[in-house]
Amino acid sequence: MLKYNIVPKPNRYTKEPGSYTVSSGTQVLCAKEFLDAGNYLTAYLKTKPREDEGAIKIKKAEGMAAESYRLRVSNEGILIEASDPSGAFYGAVTLRTILMQAKKQNGKATVEGLFIEDAPLYKYRGVQIDDARHFFGKDIVKRVLDSMAMLKLNTLHWHLSDDQGFRVESKLFPELTSVGAKRKYAGFEGCGLEHRGGEYFHYYTQEEIREVVAYAASLHIDVIPEFDIPGHTTAILAAYPQLSCFGESVEVACENGIFDTILCAGNDEVYAFLDTLFGELCALFPGKYFHIGGDEASKGHKVWEKCPKCRALMEENGLKDGKALQGLFMSRVNEIVKKYGKTTIAWNDCIGDGFDESIICQFWHPFNRSAVRAQSYKRDFILSPDAFFYLDISYANIPLKKTYSFKPSKVGFSKPNQRVRGIECTHWSEWLDSEQALQFAMFPRIAAVAEVAWTKPELRRYKDFHKRLDWLKTYWRKTGVYYSRLEKRKWNVKRVPLYHLGADGKEFRISEQLRAAKENT
Ligand code: ACM
Ligand code: ZN
Repeated sequence: MLKYNIVPKPNRYTKEPGSYTVSSGTQVLCAKEFLDAGNYLTAYLKTKPREDEGAIKIKKAEGMAAESYRLRVSNEGILIEASDPSGAFYGAVTLRTILMQAKKQNGKATVEGLFIEDAPLYKYRGVQIDDARHFFGKDIVKRVLDSMAMLKLNTLHWHLSDDQGFRVESKLFPELTSVGAKRKYAGFEGCGLEHRGGEYFHYYTQEEIREVVAYAASLHIDVIPEFDIPGHTTAILAAYPQLSCFGESVEVACENGIFDTILCAGNDEVYAFLDTLFGELCALFPGKYFHIGGDEASKGHKVWEKCPKCRALMEENGLKDGKALQGLFMSRVNEIVKKYGKTTIAWNDCIGDGFDESIICQFWHPFNRSAVRAQSYKRDFILSPDAFFYLDISYANIPLKKTYSFKPSKVGFSKPNQRVRGIECTHWSEWLDSEQALQFAMFPRIAAVAEVAWTKPELRRYKDFHKRLDWLKTYWRKTGVYYSRLEKRKWNVKRVPLYHLGADGKEFRISEQLRAAKENT
């Protein structure tokens, strides 16, 4: 029986003879390039990483795979080895998790002998949060990053612009926030809820963005911003109506839904605007990737088909409809993104032949299964199928076990040459209006996502995962993470809402009651 509960499950973990006792003063010897790993451990041990000696050693080994690590605990001490900083960091994450669980006596923790050799299944292990519909702010985002690091999740996909708000300060286009970050109501109408609260006005300053990105980097998490175009742009068009086809004024949306607001594809001013704006924004996000959305623009295609400028562009290029025009639009914007040294990511709605093969496709819904499959041989894919990984959807519809059961073959990715780069779960925030609501949606399913992304499928067992998860739940309880207790209920899917509904919502209220009941026993 393996003693320590580690999520995601390591790909090799054996019990070994001996043990080692660690106290809060135990020193950590750390290779200079692995300082993040050293800091992560010493923050727990209340020491500082050292370059000369230490009973815990974080050393560089040659020739190990990216992000992989080895961890050995014996009578002689504790050794973490890796070839790259991320591998060393994950070794430190595993050791810190083990130290938390080690037997404690007189301020000392005895770790049983063990050997772990571990590497991720996928190089992309993502979590999306939507700051456009409801705004969380940097402290909540940092706490999400902490939880991600503990689960070896390495990418934050940060949805920062949508119909309901533009959330990043632009010094070149100040109305994007003075107008686009402000809406009439905080809470949305829809799903049986009324508009709630008064004016809602939130955005990140550039300094805050830099702070979050640097914090993420220290935890080996890449930040990929998403600025969704050409649809989902009501907030942008509220600020700059001249960028739409007909220039009419619009208000930042306070409802959930798919709108027909769209940037004009036939107006050169739009491309000039995006060039300047993305130049400014790309400089804030040092990572390699830049997400330009591209989803749910079909109502806007009808507007394009009526717009003289868009029609002229369609004719010039022999394009039959708005959907085809979106291909041209995305390709032009991709050239802008490339100019700033980034690789584009877009949702699968808009990806087709003729798209630059460097564009990564994020698969969320199979509008056209055969088209998705055809593309999957041509470009990298991130898998976020809504039926498994849309965690704003209720536990009734996506129970923990379902998320854990995910295999790419369940969504048409069964061939080895289909290019799966990794997986990502999303937290759309129309109905997630507080940290508690976000956590309720995220935990514990994020742990299942982490294990599906990290651990080889043949090593995964739901029962075993569930047992290890018990330790994490204890940890979450102690650290104030509000995880859902609902996963074991028998659901009548027809009677429960599709979404978590935030502090006013029904499913969320049920969980509050469960929590109160538990605390009173
Ligand atoms: C999406 O859920 N509209 C990507
Ligand atoms: Zn137009």
